[in-house]
Parts: sequence; C-alpha cells; structure tokens
Amino acid sequence: MRARNGILTALLMTTAVWSPLTARGQTTSSAPAASQPTTTQTASQPVRPPGQKTITAGFVQIGTESLWRAAETQSIRSEAEARGINLRIAPTPPEQESQVKALRGFIAQKVDALILAPCVETGWEPVLREAKAARIPVFLMDRGFSVSEGGLWRTLVSSEFPEQGRMAARWLAEKTGGKCNIAELQGPVGSTPAYERHKGFEEVIVGEYSAMILVKSQPGDGSRAKGKELMESFLKAEGNNIQAVFAHNDDMAFGAIQAIEDAGLKPGKDVLVVSIDATKPALEAIIAGKLSASIECNAQLGPLVLDALEAAVGGAKVPYKILIKDDLFDASNAKERIGARSY
Ligand code: AHR
Repeated sequence: MRARNGILTALLMTTAVWSPLTARGQTTSSAPAASQPTTTQTASQPVRPPGQKTITAGFVQIGTESLWRAAETQSIRSEAEARGINLRIAPTPPEQESQVKALRGFIAQKVDALILAPCVETGWEPVLREAKAARIPVFLMDRGFSVSEGGLWRTLVSSEFPEQGRMAARWLAEKTGGKCNIAELQGPVGSTPAYERHKGFEEVIVGEYSAMILVKSQPGDGSRAKGKELMESFLKAEGNNIQAVFAHNDDMAFGAIQAIEDAGLKPGKDVLVVSIDATKPALEAIIAGKLSASIECNAQLGPLVLDALEAAVGGAKVPYKILIKDDLFDASNAKERIGARSY
C-alpha cells in the first residue's frame, strides 16, 4: 500500500523535462554474456492471463555494495513477480565493461526491454545504439548518465541527487550555526550520485556558508569497510579538526562511525555524521545517537520502473524522467518512522 502511494505521488511529480543529452540522475556483479545464461537469475515466473504476451526484461544491476542496493533489487524482483513480468537479473561488478557485456547478453536473448542501473556516467553510446537497432527500449533505474545523442533511452526513475546533497548541507548548517570543518566520503569515482551529491552539497556551503569548510573529500566504493578506512586516514591527518562528516551512503557512514569511536571520539557529539539512504539500520543508529541524520534515497523504485516499462512496451508515451522526492530523518522523526521502514 505504501509503495503504491509512493508511485502515485511520484507520477504526479513526474517531470517530462527532456534534456536530449543528459539523463543524470545511478548501481551492480560478473555479467552474464549470452553464452553464460547460468549467471542470470530469473526473478519471476510469469503469471499473466493466458493470451496476454509475457514481457521479458533484462535488468543489469550494480551488484551488492550496500544494503540499499539489495533493497532496490528486491523491489523490482517482487514487483515483476506480482505483474507476471519475466525479469532476468544480471548483477554485475561495479565496472562498465561487465555491465556492457550483460546488456549485450540480454540483447542477444532478444528481451522486450532493458533496465540499467549505470555504474558510471559516460561511455554508454555504443551499446545503447545496439539496443536501439534491435528495437529494445532502455529504462534507467536509480541513476542516469550523460549521452551525446537523444533517443537512446526511454525513462529515468531516480532520486534528485543534487537535492540530497543540498539537504545534507542545510541540516549541518542549521546544527552547527554554519561553522564547521567537514570530511566528505563520496560515492564511487565517475558515478552520477557521487558527482551530483557533492555538487549539491558544495553549492550550499560555498554559496551560503563561508565558515563551513570541506577539509577532506575522497571517493569511496559505498561499502562500510571503505568508509572506515577513509575516515581513519582523515582523522590521522586532521586530528580533532573535523566536526562533521558527510557520507554519501549509510554503509560508509557506519564505517566512519566505527573509525570515530576507535579514535576515542563520540559520533553524533564530537563529530556529527550525516549520510544518505535512510535505511532501517541508519534509523536505528539515529535513535542510538550515533548517526546524526540520513537523507532518504528511496530504493523502492521497482513499481515506477515497471509502470513505465509496461506502458512503453504497450505503445504508450512515457516521461523521460520520473524524479522522486526524498525525506530527511534525524532525532526528530526516526523513532516515529522506523516502524514503517522495510529495508
Ligand atoms: O544510486 C544510489 C546509491 O547507490 C545509494 O545511495 C547507495 O547506497 C548506492 O551505492
């Protein structure tokens, strides 16, 4: 029911703003080639009424770096099952080469549609042209990309990553009176959310708060282990000179919290920690006072993507972009909202 309400809200907020060159918006494992069908998981057994053609779609996902990604995969897997769509999932490592190989595998299998969570922003044109030549529409789930020509993809369903960065910066500004030294743990190099979250965050601190200083900023891989490693090196270099952390996802924030505690400091007090995703463990960490805030990145995109896909495969016009509005969670609402959090 919650998911359905989410869908309706998002459809009402749909932007049909078409930028022919850019569908920025973002994720992944060893990709199946056509010759390796065993590495492709079939997520659903078609349950369409007899006579209606079953849609077969290939989903190239960015593996499993975070809890969030697993929730996103589950969202589309269960939704496909409920709709009787035959969804083949290729979880790939976070490398473009593997994702392209997986897309080519699905094109060779003559699927009806492709769904892609692109690990990086650029370099997709050749494989997208192959999909277009094979008349297979492409849908972008969770992240967009930049391509040099129009007509290579159908719909992007994504959060507004720059706004997530802005929300994090504004929250920190409010809590620190606009004065703090910040360490940033970015997402993977070349990925859309890393670029756009950083951009939104910087826009606010540089434009509005001259005493909010980014003293450290480095890319990570979205994992807890990398978050810990980066934060350890930041603390070594800066000592007690860091009052705030902006982690691009919850998993990296959990690693940073561990490093802060290992250094004898109190996360949430000595160092404020703000992250993105707002998974259930993040809400628990907020309630425990260790994580200061988390900006939601809605992972339940399956229904929206499949709405667009079914409509397009059925010949209807679909919007180029469906952008999701996300919430902010902190000590003021985490307790009250955690019960409704399913991932
Ligand atoms: O593209 C969404 C991001 O990808 C999520 O914030 C994160 O957990 C994952 O790495």
